[in-house]
Amino acid sequence: MYHAADLAALSGPAFHAELEAQLSALIAGERNALANAANCAALIFDQVPDLNWAGFYYLEPESGDLVVGPFQGKPACARIAPGKGVCGAAVVRGESLLVPDVHAFPGHIACDAASRSELVVPLRRDGRIIGVLDLDSPTPNRFTAEDQAGMERLMAVLMAAGQS
Ligand code: SME
Repeated sequence: MYHAADLAALSGPAFHAELEAQLSALIAGERNALANAANCAALIFDQVPDLNWAGFYYLEPESGDLVVGPFQGKPACARIAPGKGVCGAAVVRGESLLVPDVHAFPGHIACDAASRSELVVPLRRDGRIIGVLDLDSPTPNRFTAEDQAGMERLMAVLMAAGQS
């Protein structure tokens, strides 16, 4: 059973190191990518303060669309067309996107009207982008460069774990 220590007392690098340790423990011995992504979304939503949505979109090879995967939060857009929204832009640019104010981002897709800032991190397997992690917060300017680096490391841990 999931009995992770509360990370509320930690911040910065210590917070992200502990989150990474918790994910490693949670997915140890499990190679199913869907199961691991589901638990990863739940872990992030449970432990990272001030989020209203945390989850995954995966590239569908036939259409090039991003299709929603495991997440926590309000029901979201099932499908994002290539290049659209913050998620699509992160795939096109091939890098993480930290958006301090979603209202100032042209083309932002408002799945939850409460979202005010957003962090999107590409998922890479064998060097190719296969999807994105999307984090939304109701607080403007919620995410830092440290959060971006921490989530990029967390996604590297997740991608190294499950292949099926
Ligand atoms: N805001 C995202 C869409 C996904 S929802 O936030 C869950 C975007 O602009 O790509």
